[in-house]
Amino acid sequence: EKGGWSSFMRKEVSEQPEAVSNTLLGRVDEGRVVIPELADFGDDELRAIRRITVIACGTAAYAGMVAKYAIEQWARVPVEVELSHEFRYRDPVLDADTLVVSISQSGETMDTLMAVKYAREMGARTISICNTQGATIPRESDAVVYTHAGPEVAVASTKAFVAQIAALYLFGLHLARVRGTLGPDELAAQLAELQAVPEKLRTVLEQIDRVGQLAHWMADTRSVLFLGRHVGYPIALEGALKLKELAYIHAEGFAAGELKHGPIALIEPGQPVFVVVPSPRGSANLHQKVVSNIQEIRARGARVIAIAEAGDAAVLPFADEVLRIPLAAPLFEPLLAVVPLQIFAMELAQAKGLDVDQPRNLAKSVTVE
Ligand code: F6R
Repeated sequence: EKGGWSSFMRKEVSEQPEAVSNTLLGRVDEGRVVIPELADFGDDELRAIRRITVIACGTAAYAGMVAKYAIEQWARVPVEVELSHEFRYRDPVLDADTLVVSISQSGETMDTLMAVKYAREMGARTISICNTQGATIPRESDAVVYTHAGPEVAVASTKAFVAQIAALYLFGLHLARVRGTLGPDELAAQLAELQAVPEKLRTVLEQIDRVGQLAHWMADTRSVLFLGRHVGYPIALEGALKLKELAYIHAEGFAAGELKHGPIALIEPGQPVFVVVPSPRGSANLHQKVVSNIQEIRARGARVIAIAEAGDAAVLPFADEVLRIPLAAPLFEPLLAVVPLQIFAMELAQAKGLDVDQPRNLAKSVTVE
């Protein structure tokens, strides 16, 4: 039940701190990840993996894209992320050394289910990341790591997304310990970052009114662009997807580095562009490059809304609006940066008088191919 909230989506956006903390609950013990559900995957098997293929659709695929950066960095194993429907129909290269990880909130998405079945037929081992107990995809997989986001009712996925990233990060850190690619101190430090996310999400949620105001000012907007780099890139894609599905506004997400390879031609005076700015404390170089992108689009008249960490003053001279996120290690920023984008799409849809829980033409779980 909505329990006093104006919509399920608003309720679920607000439940994101708990979605993450419940997903971590009982799975972290003294600086170590404990995932009893993976008991079937012995350490020898996890050490032998040569490649991970993530299959998912929509928002779940963007969670996979975020996790690719973390798992490759921590566990030094190549990760590819593929849309389930493309994977299934392209004769993929799969063998016993490939681990297939599917991600699905509902656990019933037909495209993903068919891809999982296909992967198993081809001899791959499969793990499902799922939010729905006893759903079909986990039953068809060798093991399941449940996200504990609680039931997600609104069609647009929000709290399941942050829970999926949390579960995938746990898995990545588990893999890193087993494979010996991260030492105990580094593991403990990353886990501490993960455990700090719920409290930081609470801070981000305090800006709900400010983002709402921005959305109301922009209610007549016809097109919005989103830019991000590294883990901010899938967040740009997710921001655009949310805006399309909820507010029926043309929206595109791009990797910021791709701007000069084409998309900058779209920039004309007044074009709103959200830019997810990486922390200058991560890679100063990456931060500088994104700030340069902001200068380039601003010079062509873009209206820039920057999402930047608290205290990052480099964006101030060039951004029309700055939405702040608390300090976090670079890999953990996407869990925070996505929230203002979810709220923006929700509030803009509301400003247009649309039903945010039931957008037109969409179903919560897509059980046809
Ligand atoms: C976006 C959205 C969809 C789903 C996608 C996968 O807000 O809701 O893109 O993420 O259909 O659904 P699941 O995770 O149930 O497989």
